[in-house]
Amino acid sequence: MSFEHYYTSNPTSALIFYEIKATLRDYKIVLQTSSGVFNPKKVDSASRLLIENMTVVPEQDFLDLGCGYGVIGIVAAKMGARVVFSDVNQRALMLVKKNLRLNKVKGEIIESDGFSKIDKMFDNITLNPPISAGMDTCHKLILESYNHLNKKGLLQLVARHNKGGSRLMNYMEEVFGNVEVVAKKAGFKTYLSIKWFIMDKKLLKIIACPECKNSLELIGNILYCKKCDKKYEIKEDIPILLWIWNR
Ligand SMILES: C[S@@+](CC[C@H](N)C(=O)[O-])C[C@H]1O[C@@H](n2cnc3c(N)ncnc32)[C@H](O)[C@@H]1O
Repeated sequence: MSFEHYYTSNPTSALIFYEIKATLRDYKIVLQTSSGVFNPKKVDSASRLLIENMTVVPEQDFLDLGCGYGVIGIVAAKMGARVVFSDVNQRALMLVKKNLRLNKVKGEIIESDGFSKIDKMFDNITLNPPISAGMDTCHKLILESYNHLNKKGLLQLVARHNKGGSRLMNYMEEVFGNVEVVAKKAGFKTYLSIKWFIMDKKLLKIIACPECKNSLELIGNILYCKKCDKKYEIKEDIPILLWIWNR
């Protein structure tokens, strides 16, 4: 039998069920898990650190990105958020459906590779990233999260700092223009970035690179010239289009 990652979209390994009981943010949670998904025998310590320290605002739109069997989003739903659960792994999503019922909370479930099937915007996105899927995948999830956040929206991420976490933290800083460490434990850290800026699409269409007059592309909170590769920052909602200030 060939080796399957936990991020396989349609696991074919024998289906063996497990049950986990955990107290998280003072809620008693019961989780059905199984073979073929991430960490089925206990709540992952990184996920637990994120859950215990994440900001959740009741009634806000919350995305549990790469939700696995749904532990982060179920706690967020218990705390009053409107939660969407998404993952590429169909078996994980079958478990989320059971876990919503078991824990008496509601949520929307979307099977999606990254944001390919997600067209909503969110106030809050959490991610325990699939480091073993590679840095390119994790970077893409961070950049696409930025593009799916409302103004003042949060991206909250957890990782082992010396095993990819510091690089992801730097990338969050590059995309959002800010990042802070919220909690740390046993080598893991949780990182928080806030989306302060939303660019008006009409404005983006009419501005041009001051150097070569070409159109600009917004990636994260940086404007890129598609022709001469110059980069321009946005500060306090204002695009700084002075050629002497380009990066
Ligand atoms: C480290 S696990 C975390 C699982 C769960 N959030 C938890 O805390 O237990 C990462 C999750 O991301 C999912 N994943 C990997 N690549 C993905 C992608 N491109 N799009 C969506 N989910 C993905 C995996 O299937 C896995 O469930």
